[in-house]
Amino acid sequence: MLLGVNIDHVATLREARRSFEPDIMTAAILAQLGGADGITVHLRQDRRHIQEEDVVILKNGISVPLNVEISLDERTVEFIRTIRPEKVCLVPENPDEITTEGGLNLLSKNIYNKTKNVIKKLHSRDIEVSIFIEPELKIVDLAKNLGADAIEINTKSYSECENIEEIEKEFQRIAECSNYASYKKKLIVNAGHGLNYDNVSPIVEIEEINELNIGHSIIAKSVFYGIEKSVKMMRDLIEKR
Ligand code: PXP
Repeated sequence: MLLGVNIDHVATLREARRSFEPDIMTAAILAQLGGADGITVHLRQDRRHIQEEDVVILKNGISVPLNVEISLDERTVEFIRTIRPEKVCLVPENPDEITTEGGLNLLSKNIYNKTKNVIKKLHSRDIEVSIFIEPELKIVDLAKNLGADAIEINTKSYSECENIEEIEKEFQRIAECSNYASYKKKLIVNAGHGLNYDNVSPIVEIEEINELNIGHSIIAKSVFYGIEKSVKMMRDLIEKR
């Protein structure tokens, strides 16, 4: 299973002072040294952490694939088409949210049609497109119909479970959705959101998952242990099948 490390919060710290440090490229290099298979950033419409310049620097400087999370915002899509990261993950965005709150609601005709148009634009630049979705089979069907290459299953609900029954139920939803998307729909299956050193192990057992995208917990641990070691600690958990 691959590990994509989301380094948004390195930029969050930098933007807290509108400063030049901590340096985003150094963070990406240390994450790679720790065993990151990919680097992920979220270029939000409000540019609250990652800036356009960060995406350019990372695209030119890292030696693993760059995955950029974006909304359906036209200006951001056009910018990303010029940069051509290896992967894009389409996510919903709400300006008041602290972090991404849920998967893209493909059941809305308007969002479905907009997503279709954005996927076409990204595919024309040879960018692999993933859609961040809730673990629901009917949404997997819609992602497939749209021509997405991959889905990223939202693990937020799983990560917020408070008892063993809830955890088992959410785990089953993710496992069933992964199996369906991978074998029946031939989609690449990724997952992420809210995963940490304590809750990641069951998810690692789901064989159909290709990559986990993890940010907050790794960057939080890095404050005490450094980025390279914190990524390695997560890498060790993910390799244990
Ligand atoms: N995947 C997506 C689509 C996200 O929006 C985020 C948060 O930016 C993550 C994964 C990573 O979540 P976390 O920071 O909770 O590990």
